[in-house]
Amino acid sequence: MTTILFALAAYLIGSISFAVVVSKGFGIADPRTYGSKNPGATNVLRSGNKAAALLTLFGDGFKGWLAVWLAQRFGPQYGLDDTGVALVAVAVFLGHLWPVFFRFVGGKGVATALGVLLAINGWLGLATLVTWLVIAYAFRYSSLAALIASIFAPFYYGLLFGTDALLLAVLVMSGLLIYRHRQNIANLMAGKESRIGSKKKT
Ligand code: G3P
Repeated sequence: MTTILFALAAYLIGSISFAVVVSKGFGIADPRTYGSKNPGATNVLRSGNKAAALLTLFGDGFKGWLAVWLAQRFGPQYGLDDTGVALVAVAVFLGHLWPVFFRFVGGKGVATALGVLLAINGWLGLATLVTWLVIAYAFRYSSLAALIASIFAPFYYGLLFGTDALLLAVLVMSGLLIYRHRQNIANLMAGKESRIGSKKKT
């Protein structure tokens, strides 16, 4: 029961789409209507509003961090074990991808996964973030950076902690993240992917 309640709370936290909420707050267009149509920080940046994109990145990352932090901090006293924390990690990620508050039309999970990884372990999050930054700096594709970072993240986890339930959670997140980037993968292969900083096309 504890696991279900924590996972449900995590899913609801994950269901808050900061791209949509922040864009509304800033009075700019709904990111689901332009660019890649993805409610995520990269697409909000295509609106030209850097502050809104940064806030989206922070909000989507924070919710991932918060759900796992709450589970780790308060879960054990209610009997939540490591498998329960792993389920919470996946649940907040699922909330972002398929948010109940936004007709199940969510984002691709990059910022939220990063928040989850940072809550699991600071070094794990940092190594994944640095991987993203290096690829993003070198190639200027947000999606490519996310794809490479998501492939590396389970290896970083395995190296730091070995195999356990949380590794499975990281693998599930990486798999879903790659699945959600299938249009980006097609665009990258066709040379049509837009680079970081390019403005929106409707
Ligand atoms: O954060 C998602 C990013 O990896 C790709 O976003 O809008 O270019 O599909 P987008």
